[in-house]
Amino acid sequence: MSALSAIRRSRNRPARPDTDTSGHRLLEVSGLTTRFDTPDGLVQAVNGVDLHVDRAEIVGVVGESGCGKSVTIRSILGLVRPPGRVVGGTAHFNGVDLLTLRGAELRRLRGKDIGFIAQNPFSALNPVMRIHRQFRNIMAAHDPASAGEVRDRARAALADVGIAGPGRVLDGYAHQLSGGMAQRVVIAMAMLLNPAFVIADEPTTGLDLTVQRQILDLIRGLVREHGRSMLLVTHDLGVVAQYCDRVVVMYAGKVIEHGSVRDVLTAPRHPYTQALIRAIPRPGRPLVHLTGRPPDLVDYPDGCPFRARCPHAFEPCGHTVPEPVTVASGQTYRCHLREDGEVGL
Ligand SMILES: Nc1ncnc2c1ncn2[C@@H]1O[C@H](COP(=O)(O)OP(=O)(O)O)[C@@H](O)[C@H]1O
Ligand SMILES: [Mg+2]
Repeated sequence: MSALSAIRRSRNRPARPDTDTSGHRLLEVSGLTTRFDTPDGLVQAVNGVDLHVDRAEIVGVVGESGCGKSVTIRSILGLVRPPGRVVGGTAHFNGVDLLTLRGAELRRLRGKDIGFIAQNPFSALNPVMRIHRQFRNIMAAHDPASAGEVRDRARAALADVGIAGPGRVLDGYAHQLSGGMAQRVVIAMAMLLNPAFVIADEPTTGLDLTVQRQILDLIRGLVREHGRSMLLVTHDLGVVAQYCDRVVVMYAGKVIEHGSVRDVLTAPRHPYTQALIRAIPRPGRPLVHLTGRPPDLVDYPDGCPFRARCPHAFEPCGHTVPEPVTVASGQTYRCHLREDGEVGL
């Protein structure tokens, strides 16, 4: 299915209400702020990010490279290392603020309650340890079991991700695997302890297009089948259209638009989202590339961070940060222009 037909299909999908009326909220991130203190200056990587994930929901985080997607999820998972530091905000998961947990408490949660699928499977796998040992280590940290039991569970987990010869994979090393196979192994590890929540950071980067689709279908299947929730980071709105229920659009470390996939992809309010949508390849239409680059996060611009690339920028955009505006369906955007073209100040 093309990205365009996915968007068309998403029009017919019922919009989910955006208010948590029934205690279904699994993750609620509020005001998340992360900085890197580098020799070149303070990198304002994540700037007051608000987002949430409800139970049994797949939420996409989308934006160009360098917009703060990975730092956002690494902050939530307690994986930001010096010179990086989370300097503000909360990230409540099942009511517990992850940002207040210590290392050991967070490690217990990661893996057991939250499965993480990183961008590069080969950095997630240990190159000098046989795969079965790596499964054993995950189990030992959370759910100690006999060697035979570990092997049985690892075989079952590998079979669930479509690996036909799990025994051979378990006895081998990461470098013997193709990129697609290695990512399947990482997915099996992420799902091993049956987490309720999965975070995947561009899980198909570097894989060829057919394998990308297979891996995304696989992850979605494992999430939906078990009623799990997922935060899926991608730079590709086509992936959002096909795989997500809601979407958070990030620019320069801020959420600049958010809403149901149906609303955001059929009626984008922010000029950045509109530009991303125009850049999706469509049959019979020339690509409209997004020109320019996101701003320097060390020398963070005043006002709206998108203004230098925005075709509609006008006077207030240079000095006043747009506050979030919410429309009836719950879709939210940060822009001084209103839908009808009226100035929002
Ligand atoms: N270890 C680091 N040291 C300094 N800056 C970093 C570090 N990691 C990320 N950044 C900066 O944070 C910003 C956001 O990066 P990132 O979250 O990786 O973007 P994305 O995942 O959206 O491509 C970028 O400007 C990047 O250069
Ligand atoms: Mg990234």
